[in-house]
Amino acid sequence: MVLPLGMSLETLRKSSGTFETAVGLPPEVYSDAEFHRFEMDAVFGSEWLCVGRQEQIPTVGDYLSVTRAGEPLIVARSSDGSIRVMSAVCQHRAMCLTASVDRSDEDMLDPPDLQSGSGRMFRCPYHYWVYDLDGQLVGAPEMSKTTGFDMADVQLPSLPVEIWNGFIFTNFDSAAAPLAPRLAKLDEVLANYHVESLVTVDPVTIPDVPFNWKIMVENFMEMYHQSRLHHGIHDFAPSSGASYADYAAGDGAMFGYSETLEPDGGFNPTMQALFPPLPGITMQDRQRIVFALVAPSLLMGFQSDSAFWFYVDPTGPTTHALSMAYIFPESTVELPDFGETLEDAIAGVSTFNRQDMPTNVATQLGMQSRFAPRGRYSWQEGVLAQFNSWLVDRYAAAAGE
Ligand SMILES: [Fe+2]
Repeated sequence: MVLPLGMSLETLRKSSGTFETAVGLPPEVYSDAEFHRFEMDAVFGSEWLCVGRQEQIPTVGDYLSVTRAGEPLIVARSSDGSIRVMSAVCQHRAMCLTASVDRSDEDMLDPPDLQSGSGRMFRCPYHYWVYDLDGQLVGAPEMSKTTGFDMADVQLPSLPVEIWNGFIFTNFDSAAAPLAPRLAKLDEVLANYHVESLVTVDPVTIPDVPFNWKIMVENFMEMYHQSRLHHGIHDFAPSSGASYADYAAGDGAMFGYSETLEPDGGFNPTMQALFPPLPGITMQDRQRIVFALVAPSLLMGFQSDSAFWFYVDPTGPTTHALSMAYIFPESTVELPDFGETLEDAIAGVSTFNRQDMPTNVATQLGMQSRFAPRGRYSWQEGVLAQFNSWLVDRYAAAAGE
């Protein structure tokens, strides 16, 4: 592959390094269709992509349907208890075998509604080809007269799986190097949080968010805007308390800390945590929020009483699907007033989203302007230069440079 749009690596490298010297990425990377196709190969074709959490499929036969980089996938707890990631594309006529065909006159032409659930096998609704939980074809009606057809030869394509802190990752590159060694620095920071034991509550996916996936990542990770866009509602954790861990080429994650003025702050009108502190975290942990990106697409926040994850999945040059959920200790989920308090917490976060989302939509418009800058960064958004460095290394590798 060559770099798209006649870009040179030298131009892109101006965005790498640290905030002191870096400039923004060329605006075209946020909207151009040719660049998007390049990026889908250069980044999403060979990096580890988060597809869910292990506790979402606790029992043999449980499965999640997800789409990543345009590919419909099944994430299943297979017969031996391990987690498998398989293509959801039937190897007969390419029907997405998890797609619901039970639709109304109003929604029958809408994008496929891929089902998650639990079962002993996957049966394609089209011609009833049946695959077991390991993706092996075990049933195919009326195929006995077809010359040389042998069910043993047919499997759903299988993808590599890596579990890190309860998050399930897969990769379209079956030869990809493992992810965990690149996350060692982040592991140290998260050790007290026991992330693998936290449980996902009420995940939601917004399928058509109208801005480039990188705009979402940047908005989530940078803390410069906390005291500006969120002035008044973010005062418990001002931008002046932002800091970022050092990033080096080869790291798989970028992360930073937003110090809170008091322990146990929270993203809601009380500016205080609504649930008990996470078991095992220190006073230092309780007085800061950790924001982390496992590049390219898993965003996480860790606060005193809870954590949350966002998955960002590009669906086009200027669109992405965004999934979000809280993760809590079991002990918190079991509290008698958990449901009500969760509603308060969600309502609290919404006040931030109502400022962030229109900002992101408007940033997308500006990035498409002939006047879009390659702007400079403040120290409070140092993570953006780090993210650029990670991206540009992938762009360069894909272009063979
Ligand atoms: Fe924000």
